Amino acid sequence: MQYFVKSGNPEKQRVACVVAGVFDRRSPTGAAQTIDSVSAGAIACIMRRGDMDGKLGKTLVLHNLSGVFCDRVLLVGLGRERDFDEAAFRKAQTAAAKALTATGSIDAVSYLTHLPIKGHDYRWNVQQAVLASENAFYRFDDCRGEKARAELHAPKLERYTFDVPRRSDLPAGERGLAESLAIGRGTDLAKNLANLPGNICTPSYLAGQAQKLAKQYPIKTKVLEEAQMRELGMGALLAVSSGSREPAKLLVMEYMHSAKGAKPIVLVGKGLTFDAGGISIKPSSAMDEMKFDMCGGASVLGALAAAAELKLPLNIVGVVPTSENLPDGAAVKPGDIVTTMAGLTVEVLNTDAEGRLILCDALAYVGKHYDPAACIDMATLTGACVVALGSHASGLFSNQSGLARQLLAAGDQIGDRAWEMPLWPEYDAQLKSEFADVANIATIGAREAGAITAASFLSRFTKKLRWAHLDIAGTAWKGKAATGRPVPLLVQYLLNVVARQQD
Ligand code: BES
Ligand code: MN
Ligand code: ZN
Repeated sequence: MQYFVKSGNPEKQRVACVVAGVFDRRSPTGAAQTIDSVSAGAIACIMRRGDMDGKLGKTLVLHNLSGVFCDRVLLVGLGRERDFDEAAFRKAQTAAAKALTATGSIDAVSYLTHLPIKGHDYRWNVQQAVLASENAFYRFDDCRGEKARAELHAPKLERYTFDVPRRSDLPAGERGLAESLAIGRGTDLAKNLANLPGNICTPSYLAGQAQKLAKQYPIKTKVLEEAQMRELGMGALLAVSSGSREPAKLLVMEYMHSAKGAKPIVLVGKGLTFDAGGISIKPSSAMDEMKFDMCGGASVLGALAAAAELKLPLNIVGVVPTSENLPDGAAVKPGDIVTTMAGLTVEVLNTDAEGRLILCDALAYVGKHYDPAACIDMATLTGACVVALGSHASGLFSNQSGLARQLLAAGDQIGDRAWEMPLWPEYDAQLKSEFADVANIATIGAREAGAITAASFLSRFTKKLRWAHLDIAGTAWKGKAATGRPVPLLVQYLLNVVARQQD
């Protein structure tokens, strides 16, 4: 798909489809009004007859209207004008994109980007319109057989233009477009990697993808093998990997695009390519979804790709510990005690709490090799986070309130929200081990606050860092499809860092 930003009159567009919005109570938007008046009241007539009531997300395709140059007009319901907010804006864009793909249109111009949303400009409108459309157009068919793939008809729509009211709005619109194209690219990369099954997307496959990034962008990739992890003392990461025949890897990707010496922003992502639970094996229902346990790692690759695409003047480092977690004769067992790179010993009371084990060594590596301005990790870490926040918000934890505020704001801005949870010492105390420095699950209040005790475990390894953790267990995939979250949140955060740098 190619996207464009333009400024022009709806009735004069020589395209297959023009997209215009109508609020309920039969109140058309400007573009719909213009089309209505050149077509002798065609839209008013349709609304009067009740074929389009303007409910949010409803769509109706009109053919052969008089007085317009386009082949069709796609009417999109916007709901109540008073209630038209950010979420409604996105819903309308999604509905428009889905309806467009059901038509034979090869190109379209949308006027839904004209709709004013309080507190936002045309940069935001275009950015959000493109992101919502990209999401709606996304398909994952790489794993269908050859025959089925040949029969899939390629999407007809090739060119999608978003209109802005005035020529003077074009620069803002273009900026939003560039941002959303990069974010869309990064999100799609994260989704594609995550949607692949565990037998294809292995730790070695992810390592190959990290190396591919280094070919496409000014990114330097280093892949640490198990032998090097052993030298570094990464006993926790190696313990998780011990039950797997696929060797673990530690991916380190450096995008250094800022003035020399500027402290890097470090992104760390859990790259568990399949989590069966290990000896503490999971129940079999929906275990297939544990191929998504590498979504944190995938979003690190996606965010780096987007940052490089935007040529952000920052130093950014991506670190992805990647492994499988499987039961085996050589697997780590409940009660085993391992020594981490940081020197802390961990009693592995549940081998299914493996994310924190691979992350604690990756975080120690970050602390040793970098002096980050901020270190943000993302992980599909706990089922408890899904219980607490569902699929609408990622769980956010931080040892630094300024960083937390910036991440929350970035998520709100771009519609990839997070919600902060506490990291109080009372929770941390639940991780008491009878034998080692810390247990990998709560031994006190074992069934309580699982997302927080997991984050507390990580916080023991990030004391010297300006650190935040995103638990994306509820947001990284929906049903059986990856969402690409939190790539949008991360890139918006990076964009905001750049903007502050330039003030
Ligand atoms: N990857 C899972 C967390 C998860 C479960 C994410 C379901 C999304 C949906 C993680 O490795 C895990 O198994 N966590 C355990 C921790 C428990 C043993 C303390 C969990 O959440 O059950
Ligand atoms: Mn697990
Ligand atoms: Zn896991």
